[in-house]
Amino acid sequence: MELDSLGNLQRTDSCGALTLKDVGRSVTLMGWVDVRRDLGNLIFVDLRDREGITQVVFKQDVSGEAHARAKELRSEYVAAVEGQVVARALETVNPALSTGEVEVQARRLWILNDAQTPPFQVSDAAKASEDIRLKYRFLDLRRPKMQRTFRLRHQAMLEIRTYLDSKGFLEIETPILTKSTPEGARDYLVPSRVQPERFYALPQSPQLFKQILMMSGFDKYFQIVRCFRDEDLRADRQPEFTQVDLEMSFVQPDQIFTLIEPLLQRVFRLVGTEVPLPFPRLTYDEALRRFGSDKPDLRFSVELQDLSPLFKDSEFRVFRSIVEEGGVAKAIAAPGGAKYSRRELEIFADVVKQLGATGLAWIKAADGEISSSLPKVVLETRLRQMLSACGAAQGDLLLVVAGAPKVVAESLGALRVHLSKQEQWADPRAFQFLWVTDFPLFEWSEEENRYVSCNHPFTAPVEQDLDRLESDPARVKSKAYDVVLNGTEIGGGSIRIHRSDLQQRVFRALGISDEEAERRFGFFLEALKYGTPPHGGIALGLDRIIMLMAGESSIRDVIAFPKTARGTDLMTESPAEVSPEQLRELKIRFEK
Ligand code: AMO
Repeated sequence: MELDSLGNLQRTDSCGALTLKDVGRSVTLMGWVDVRRDLGNLIFVDLRDREGITQVVFKQDVSGEAHARAKELRSEYVAAVEGQVVARALETVNPALSTGEVEVQARRLWILNDAQTPPFQVSDAAKASEDIRLKYRFLDLRRPKMQRTFRLRHQAMLEIRTYLDSKGFLEIETPILTKSTPEGARDYLVPSRVQPERFYALPQSPQLFKQILMMSGFDKYFQIVRCFRDEDLRADRQPEFTQVDLEMSFVQPDQIFTLIEPLLQRVFRLVGTEVPLPFPRLTYDEALRRFGSDKPDLRFSVELQDLSPLFKDSEFRVFRSIVEEGGVAKAIAAPGGAKYSRRELEIFADVVKQLGATGLAWIKAADGEISSSLPKVVLETRLRQMLSACGAAQGDLLLVVAGAPKVVAESLGALRVHLSKQEQWADPRAFQFLWVTDFPLFEWSEEENRYVSCNHPFTAPVEQDLDRLESDPARVKSKAYDVVLNGTEIGGGSIRIHRSDLQQRVFRALGISDEEAERRFGFFLEALKYGTPPHGGIALGLDRIIMLMAGESSIRDVIAFPKTARGTDLMTESPAEVSPEQLRELKIRFEK
């Protein structure tokens, strides 16, 4: 087919702009053919660009040659149309389109490019499998919904930059080819050709560089920055993702909170939400005790209730001894949950077992009777006490787990989230923010058989706990905080250690020897000694924020070219093999 050239042709309007006000104007539109309907004498073409869709009509008698040429148009052809804006007859007005009251009567048509038959209709792409959409991401991204998402992302980034600039922050770039910054994931490594057997690490975050910028006197730094983490992927995790990273000198946590709250408030105005300030705050201990999670979804009020006192002197030996030995028995009440079948209760049991619970007991109040999976030795009066302790009424269900406090909290926390999804407890349009504060500095890792940082090793312990650092590390609290939205951690930060001797003590508590600390972080320990101001900061997960704003359930939908759960980019087919030549240059050989 012969194609036309663009020549000097100029667009006058976008495909989303024309309204009744434009009737009578001569316009030139350019875009992609969304659909073409051929009725013989009349051909309708929906022309699409990023602003919207305009219906173009080719009439045999008015459009002449253009009408004949329009027969050649197919989906996703690229075309330019010159014609006159006319009002649509009342019965053909399309209220779903911003341009739905008008159409363009074509006088001339230029076919600027053809297109192969797409593997899915752009307008129907949502029905295609995600793998196909990712392989043909260039087509998937043409969808109006995608175009809206990336416009929102752009606007959010613009808003963030403007706001932080107005607060005196400087955006400073930090290296991508660098040395490992521990954030709890594996590093992506890049071999050096010039220095064989040496590797750069891609940054898990710019943590050390932003702290060094404080040492260098920049006072307030920010960066919208790509981070890289080799970890198991989930719906809210990608191997490369974007942080709004910032750091300030001479601050306390409150100053970080009062900086971030209005920032998030402004960003959420982009989706028409007025977020009330200040955000509620919960300590880590309270969040775990009440909601079984350090990132609780506060859109629904179901809480964990402690039944340990009722089991402590109960007839039921198994739970009694768990409680006597320092364990706990806790429950959540599912309003209306007496309706659940045995099969459903088994699924709930699987949810808690996956987090280490040995089992799930239940108590039902239905039809004036009380039934339970607990052994018969547990008296009905006791079951009634438990139901009333949890505020459960007729028709409700109690789900009970007993065991080590952490296992009980986490497993019931997960069950709380599971039930909320099944029962749609949360209003999908609500945005419920909160700060979680006072995290422990360390947690014990069974896998590594040592303490690891809850946050990262540069987080400051609270002053009152300093003398416990060596003697009782598990009880040391930190100056770390997270910001949580609807059960998703959207940001985390802390006040940092600003003294070299304290940093060294923390490394030692983490089982990092002085030699290893010197090898990995020598430059940083050195820098700390030259006049480091007290400082702190935070990083927000931009992808997660946009995901929640756009109402998506995966960050893949708000990243232009994301990777699958196996870390593959289906469009470019990376990771890919490299040539033997490249491997030779890098002096890399594979073991068979
Ligand atoms: P943290 O590791 O908590 O803190 O990361 C900050 C925020 O980044 C987001 N995030 C991710 N988003 C998508 N995919 C991932 N794989 C991923 N990992 C993290 C989360 C998280 O809250 N240097 C510190 C910040 C600081 O202390 O200032 C840091 O990186 O929303």
